[in-house]
Amino acid sequence: MKIRAALFILGIWLMGCKEQNREKPVKALQDKGYTEEYRPQFHFSPPEKWMNDPNGLVYNEGIYHLFYQYYPGDIVWGPMHWGHATSKDLVHWEHKPIALYPDEHGLIFSGSAVVDKHNTSGFGKNGIAPLVAIFTYHSMEGEKAGRDDFQTQGIAYSLDNGATWTKYEGNPVIGNNGIRDFRDPKVFWHEESQKWILTLVAGDHAQFYASKNLKEWEHLSDFGKTQGAHGGVWECPDLFPIQVADTDEEKWILIISINPGAPNGGSGTQYFIGDFNGQKFTSDQQKPKWIDYGTDNYAGVTYNNTPEDKRIFIGWMSNWDYANKTPTQKWRSAMTVPRELALKKVDDDFVLTSYPVEQLDKLASQILAENVLISSRTSDTLLVDGLNQSQIELKTASKDFSLIFKNDLKETLMLEMDSQSNTFVVDRMKSGKVAFDSEFGDKKHLSPISMLNDSIYEVKILLDWSSIEIFMDGGVYVMTEQLFSTEPYNTLIIQNGSEESEIRLESIKYMESVW
Ligand code: FRU
Repeated sequence: MKIRAALFILGIWLMGCKEQNREKPVKALQDKGYTEEYRPQFHFSPPEKWMNDPNGLVYNEGIYHLFYQYYPGDIVWGPMHWGHATSKDLVHWEHKPIALYPDEHGLIFSGSAVVDKHNTSGFGKNGIAPLVAIFTYHSMEGEKAGRDDFQTQGIAYSLDNGATWTKYEGNPVIGNNGIRDFRDPKVFWHEESQKWILTLVAGDHAQFYASKNLKEWEHLSDFGKTQGAHGGVWECPDLFPIQVADTDEEKWILIISINPGAPNGGSGTQYFIGDFNGQKFTSDQQKPKWIDYGTDNYAGVTYNNTPEDKRIFIGWMSNWDYANKTPTQKWRSAMTVPRELALKKVDDDFVLTSYPVEQLDKLASQILAENVLISSRTSDTLLVDGLNQSQIELKTASKDFSLIFKNDLKETLMLEMDSQSNTFVVDRMKSGKVAFDSEFGDKKHLSPISMLNDSIYEVKILLDWSSIEIFMDGGVYVMTEQLFSTEPYNTLIIQNGSEESEIRLESIKYMESVW
């Protein structure tokens, strides 16, 4: 086995001064705060306390809003508020005051936000188009009393681009006829019918509603009782049109999170490809398709009103199996990087691909390693300071290789592409702290790779202190996983088991902190 250190080391990255170098990026960040153990450096995480689902993803007047399920009282789930952050580029975020507080109707569960350009709601004043948030009220009293109608839908509006919010006095706008899990409304403007369309989940299926003014809603239809995965309750739906890549054809996607019942356990997100005619969503798809095979991408939804109509998705990087127990102290949970969705035809089937938004490229600055060729049946060991906060890109036709991340304590994260079983494996069983929950490190996590390109394809990996995101073949297969190594990984071993194909490690780049 050859041992080769990182080839290009710029600036502070001097080969041979490993200990010293590893301290440097940390030191620079300490001055700004946001350097606690496991704190992601280019992912969104709340300044402190508990966070779960992304909510109200909407772009308005140059600002991307990110609201989120937030409990300001503790680092475990509790009475839900909408936390708030904004960004001009989807990369750098500014923390804002809490946007929505619980009120007499209940806690503020997940939902969406729209720009009411034509002031259909009448909330607009002096020509200002209101932002309208549509969310679920969860009445704790109702739940405690053993009733089934404790979740209803409410709205609030803002006339200062999300800075302050007023709840509608006519709330709730959709009542409940006795459905226990009745929540997570996602709304968009449907041009053809000149109506707002709302999708929510009702236990084991999705329901669609229409409105002219965001206040009065008419139930249109249902979908999904007998289709897709049903291992748990359906949550956080999202319905949107998308063009099939390189064609004029348009399809509709219905995203549904499910908990439990994901392919590798606990929470996961499935999607359906079909059509929507303004009344009904139809799909002949019986089996679930998964947006991500990792265990840590849940409750993800897409932005409304984006420039150039891009479909941008953000997920919560955790899993209800262990979300309340992960070993952070000051805050808990982060979001995935924003990902652009596309619908591609692969082998006569459609795949919804997801790939990091290109704005993130500007963070990938210093080159830690570049242009390393791993020929068939060889392996290479790279010592890379800064690996824990990096982007790794490789190109290969090999379907038999391993990427092994290690630290000085011999904690190991193993990724493996295996052509025999046609699977990609993430093994975090010995990756660091795993004992905080019995499910976290109990087994290997698998993704099928049957639709991977047979010729050269690319793999992009983002590592950010307590997470790894792996995008294969432009996002045809994706795995997102949390990790809690006791020390940063600083060694990458690439083993190429293929008889004929080489692996080209294009680069490992240090990702600048956005905080
Ligand atoms: C999904 C979810 C939603 C709900 C919210 C509560 O993670 O369970 O269905 O609205 O979290 O925090």
